[in-house]
Amino acid sequence: MKEMTLHVDAGGGYDILISPGLLDEAGKRIRAALPMAKRLFVVTDSNVSPLYGARLVASLEIESFEVHTHVLPAGETSKSAENLMALWEWMTAHGVTRTDAVAALGGGVVGDLAGFAASTVLRGVGLVQIPTTLLSQVDSSVGGKTAIDLPAGKNLAGSFYQPSLVLMDPDTLATLPLPVFMAGMAEVVKYGCIRDADFFDFLAARPSREALMADIGRILYTCCDIKRQVVNADERDTGLRMILNFGHTLGHAYELAGNYVEWSHGQAVAAGMVTAARLGVELGVTAPGVPEKIESVLASLGLPTRIDCGFSYIEKALGLDKKGAGDKVTLILLEKLGVVRPLKLPRAEVLDVLAKMEGR
Ligand SMILES: NC(=O)c1ccc[n+]([C@@H]2O[C@H](COP(=O)([O-])OP(=O)(O)OC[C@H]3O[C@@H](n4cnc5c(N)ncnc54)[C@H](O)[C@@H]3O)[C@@H](O)[C@H]2O)c1
Ligand SMILES: [Zn+2]
Repeated sequence: MKEMTLHVDAGGGYDILISPGLLDEAGKRIRAALPMAKRLFVVTDSNVSPLYGARLVASLEIESFEVHTHVLPAGETSKSAENLMALWEWMTAHGVTRTDAVAALGGGVVGDLAGFAASTVLRGVGLVQIPTTLLSQVDSSVGGKTAIDLPAGKNLAGSFYQPSLVLMDPDTLATLPLPVFMAGMAEVVKYGCIRDADFFDFLAARPSREALMADIGRILYTCCDIKRQVVNADERDTGLRMILNFGHTLGHAYELAGNYVEWSHGQAVAAGMVTAARLGVELGVTAPGVPEKIESVLASLGLPTRIDCGFSYIEKALGLDKKGAGDKVTLILLEKLGVVRPLKLPRAEVLDVLAKMEGR
């Protein structure tokens, strides 16, 4: 696989580089993107650090960066205000200046927290995303959303802050536990559903991790290209960006019902996409047969396609969902594979149709 580059216009403009072995060249690439940086603050987690931390640090030190490393406990609970504060204090204790940079090495948890810290310390320093999960490579590292969780809910404090560079080394995906890899695949399938029917068929023909990894370059490139186009058109999430939420409203209901433990985000989104497609058929928007196609691809990847949750969770997700406004809710539906259609409907009507679908 040869190196691929995508340019994102949002923010000051930045490149996404995709290439196996890129981790060992991180120093050189970061030096080129951030010529003034002296200190590099590497934020990573307790799973990723032993796997890739030393290689990253070695490549940074070759370029004479002064490297400091902070290892967070792996897991969503690390996306906390306490850890944000700890990162601020750690960076200032080591004399961070405006021209220095943060490097986030890990999944979306590390990327979101380190990104928020980078956007706020000294009112913003450089940020390099080095995503190591499939989800963070195709989704969270691109687009500039950063966040921490609050007791009241996930991602409730954060910023829009574009990185200076995104370095994707597909080789790092080899060490992912299978469920974590497949959770990322739910988002990959989502891109096919909303924007690219050929890509959807391409995925359908690769029903195993091995087959997908054989073409991982094309997969990462296609997903990041779609996300980049959407982000360029709507950096601050006031319009087009909502199409990325296909499957997410219902997915949130399932996540909530399982207390964020029973179902991972990717699993919940997988089932959410199938329900959204079925809902679309019920509403006469989605072509018949689409739900079955989505279901078949997801099932072949071992992802859940139906999750039975109490109706109160669906009501809650429809009511409290960030996309909601007033008594109407904007549903992200498909016309057919590759063609998305946001549709604003009265909340009560959507609930009725969903209740009918579930035979309640
Ligand atoms: N900013 C955004 O636009 C955006 C978009 C989607 C999701 N998110 C956020 O991303 C987070 C989820 O990201 P995630 O799924 O990457 O979770 P994660 O960061 O928790 O990573 C999942 C698990 O994989 C481990 N891991 C990471 N890389 C590994 C590797 N190469 N080999 C072995 N293990 C590895 C981690 O330690 C962790 O245990 C959520 O907090 C979510 O809110 C943000
Ligand atoms: Zn998602």
